[in-house]
Amino acid sequence: MSKEDKFKKVISHAKEYGFVFQSSEIYDGLSAVYDYGQNGTDLKNNIKDYWLKAMVQLNDNIVNIDSAILMHPKIWKASGHVDAFNDPLIDNKDSKKRYRADVLIEDYISKIDNKIQKEISKAKKKFGENFDKEQFVSTNSRILNYNNKISDINKVFSEALEKDDLKALKKLIEDLEIACPVSGSKNWTDVKQFNLMFGTKLGASAESAMDLYLRPETAQGIFVNFLNVQKTSRLKIPFGIAQIGKAFRNEIVARQFIFRMREFEQMEMQFFIKPGTQQEWYAKWKENRLAWHLSLGLGEDNYRFHDHDKLAHYADAACDIEFNFPFGFKELEGIHSRTDFDLTSHEKFSSKKIKYFDTLSNESFTPYVLETSIGLDRMFLAIFSKSLIEEKLEDGSSRTVLKFPKILAPKKVAVLPLLKKDGLPELSKQILEEFKWDYNCVYDEKDAIGRRYRRQDALGTPYCLTVDHQSLEDRTITIRDRDTMKQQRLTVQEVKNKIKTELDLKSWLTF
Ligand code: GAP
Repeated sequence: MSKEDKFKKVISHAKEYGFVFQSSEIYDGLSAVYDYGQNGTDLKNNIKDYWLKAMVQLNDNIVNIDSAILMHPKIWKASGHVDAFNDPLIDNKDSKKRYRADVLIEDYISKIDNKIQKEISKAKKKFGENFDKEQFVSTNSRILNYNNKISDINKVFSEALEKDDLKALKKLIEDLEIACPVSGSKNWTDVKQFNLMFGTKLGASAESAMDLYLRPETAQGIFVNFLNVQKTSRLKIPFGIAQIGKAFRNEIVARQFIFRMREFEQMEMQFFIKPGTQQEWYAKWKENRLAWHLSLGLGEDNYRFHDHDKLAHYADAACDIEFNFPFGFKELEGIHSRTDFDLTSHEKFSSKKIKYFDTLSNESFTPYVLETSIGLDRMFLAIFSKSLIEEKLEDGSSRTVLKFPKILAPKKVAVLPLLKKDGLPELSKQILEEFKWDYNCVYDEKDAIGRRYRRQDALGTPYCLTVDHQSLEDRTITIRDRDTMKQQRLTVQEVKNKIKTELDLKSWLTF
């Protein structure tokens, strides 16, 4: 299956099985805004929970807050978003379509990178177990040429971004002969800057209304609450404040499904540290966040770090954890060493002292900040797209299965009476009653058992518990594993023990 077909399958499966719907669909939809359905909401909540447990519950020096979406407009002046939260835009004169100039160039680089990944997969297949990826990448002439080309482009690209040189960005698009994906023409306008924040108004009358912004990141809600949280929690540096919440950006290139949305959710954590220790914490959080991703078992090869060439106005080091999405490696999470930029700036704009008093050294200082910031919707897409598998079976048939990490599956257990008679539904409901206190469960008695298994496979339910005539006699049931399709007859208690062991958070989150 080609990458495009695979991605189309992801989108259609997400809709067909109640995971993600286009927002306002009956009114022809709203571009780059999506709703989560009954199964998508469960998956999303499980991702949030997995993040919160790792970041907050397991760290006694990190707390969780929930700040408002609407904030004082001065906050966005202090944070730099009013002046610098811009994207460089370019229009194609023939198709009249608007693009982000940087994304056109990044997509061009991605295409070259995809060629590299293809060469690597081909070689991996050819050499099997003896394949040495590092050696291959550093000696294969085609890959060396591709990599040289990428670094030549990146040099010009990062210089243009660094200097905000919009003419140089346009020239690079022309030099690379990038064509409009719609019209195919290379007839481009000049590049212009465009601010991404959504404006809104607070107040009843037009004269007194105050211009506000919908927050473009959750981070600022943490910074402006730094003193409140530190004083009421009495936490000592180093400590962190985490937050999950909605963010809004008027994205120009709004495509790739839930990858780039106009309303999305972030899971952010700001870690407040002593100035001078930022390099050490940057390395620690990079390692910790990658380990969190790897704990889900989607495959080490699907992640890589990408160091930022152009640093944001607030950062002294930054990188992305990129994931191998159906359309190639793209940013999933950002790790930023934000210095004392935000707290210092809020101190200036609010005229309030924002300092930390260190009782050990008897000194007062502005903490430095290490940020981890992941898009919940992107994490959803990463998990969903890697878990969706078309599997050929031994008997020649095939099945569609969502092999979610079991800990994240929307429903954990399906209880299925083999037949809709002979007291099997009644016993099944009794068994369901026993499991539903611990797990999100589903009961299904419609259709033949084989079809019901397929339905649960397509929803990613890890365990199907089948209740048959023998169950009436000895209270044993059959547990079918989603991934192996193996069935085992066990007592209800043994099934409970097995599921409890397999979903034990400790075995997932110990890294
Ligand atoms: N506080 C830092 C910050 O907001 P960012 O790199 O702009 O940094 C962090 O965003 C993460 O938020 C990204 O790594 C991405 O996962 C997610 N994200 C950003 N824009 C998004 C969008 N338009 N749609 C979905 N997720 C987005």
